[in-house]
Amino acid sequence: MGMSWATRALTGSLKWIDDRFPLTKLWNEHLAEYYAPKNFNFWYYFGSLALVVLANQIITGIWLTMSYTPTAEGAFDSVEYIMRDVPYGWLIRYLHSTGASFFFIVVYLHMFRGLLYGSYKKPRELIWLLGMLIFLCLMAEAFLGYLLPWGNMSFWGAQVITSLFGAIPYFGEGLVEWLRGDYNITGVTLNRFFALHVVFVPLLFIGLVIFHIMALHEVGSNNPDGVEIKKHKDKNGRPLDGIPFQPYYTVKDMFGVAVFLLIFCAVVFFAPDMGGYFLEHPNFEPADPLKTPTHIAPVWYMTPYYAILRAIPNKLLGVIAMFSSIAFFFLLPWLDRCPVKSIRYRGDIYKIALSLFVISFLVLGYLGSVPPSPILTIVAQFSSLVYFSFFLLMPFYTRSEKTKPVPERIRG
Ligand code: HEM
Repeated sequence: MGMSWATRALTGSLKWIDDRFPLTKLWNEHLAEYYAPKNFNFWYYFGSLALVVLANQIITGIWLTMSYTPTAEGAFDSVEYIMRDVPYGWLIRYLHSTGASFFFIVVYLHMFRGLLYGSYKKPRELIWLLGMLIFLCLMAEAFLGYLLPWGNMSFWGAQVITSLFGAIPYFGEGLVEWLRGDYNITGVTLNRFFALHVVFVPLLFIGLVIFHIMALHEVGSNNPDGVEIKKHKDKNGRPLDGIPFQPYYTVKDMFGVAVFLLIFCAVVFFAPDMGGYFLEHPNFEPADPLKTPTHIAPVWYMTPYYAILRAIPNKLLGVIAMFSSIAFFFLLPWLDRCPVKSIRYRGDIYKIALSLFVISFLVLGYLGSVPPSPILTIVAQFSSLVYFSFFLLMPFYTRSEKTKPVPERIRG
């Protein structure tokens, strides 16, 4: 029995491509013969989910640009036009706006996994650094995109954040003007934010994600036990505690995507504004330079940093604290001196430190979303202290940690 005509045509075409492009080679290196630890758990869903959300943002973003007008006169109305008149425009917009919030949920959980299992430690420092650059892109992308609907919070949010640079001595004022392209937030600012949001940052973003995954596949994934699977290989050179990514983890990730889409669609269809947390109420009104919203607050995913900014009375010091609250994450691979990666085998001191850090992050997130008061400012100052202590004291408390013995091989 020979091959069917269709099979012959397919294998023939594949060979034609493979003679000219490393298609099968790429497939094997990154999927079929890429061995991943056999013990991935819940926390390992979020990398592939971040890819799914990235694809969602790019696709819905392209469709939004087809009907959006990037001018101060036309922007707000064009968003209303998308919502009311463009066929399924409301769906495309809600997929994009909800996607922004879910991007942060997914990425925060993805980063938390890194903190649980010490994924930033040697030899994965560069994966972590590239991840942090991606995170900066994500924040820039969210900030730039938020101005585009030209709602009242878009205007005042951009006003507050750009004016922060004015706190820099000597050239701060000039810098603010240069960023805005005008003396105020105007159509000129909107135009450049549009260009950066739609072309520049996405290009950086995609490039960094490709490097992130190339770096990951160079060293291989960490896992919940923090055991290096490359240490024990069979006679064919395959890690004994590894399984081929395809089909095992492609199937696992597909299950994750299905559950994710259920939750994501429930929000898109039933609570796209999430009671003002995903789409803020003042943004249902057009930008008005003469009408300051009674309470200016960023979207939920930026509120922890905003709370740190407000906790410090001096503007310049506040700005420095806010930027360093993110900068410290870059240093994590070198601040953490514990030789053990996974929290399963680390001492109580790290478990306590990490719990306090998460609590301070959540408290700050809440405080950044409500109007300040003298009492709440003290709570914010205390929480900021806890937040920064996690990083600043890390070289000390991780060095004296009482760790448990790490197994040679992955258990069970
Ligand atoms: C668009 C954003 C991102 C995408 C698409 C992405 C994608 C991925 C993927 C597919 C993986 C492998 C699967 C997994 O381990 O879950 C991964 C691993 C990893 N990512 Fe990301 N990532 C993103 C952002 C970040 C950020 C912000 C950080 C942290 C700063 C980060 C740090 C890491 C680390 C340390 C690993 C290795 C984890 C391990 O092996 O335990 N990533 N990423």
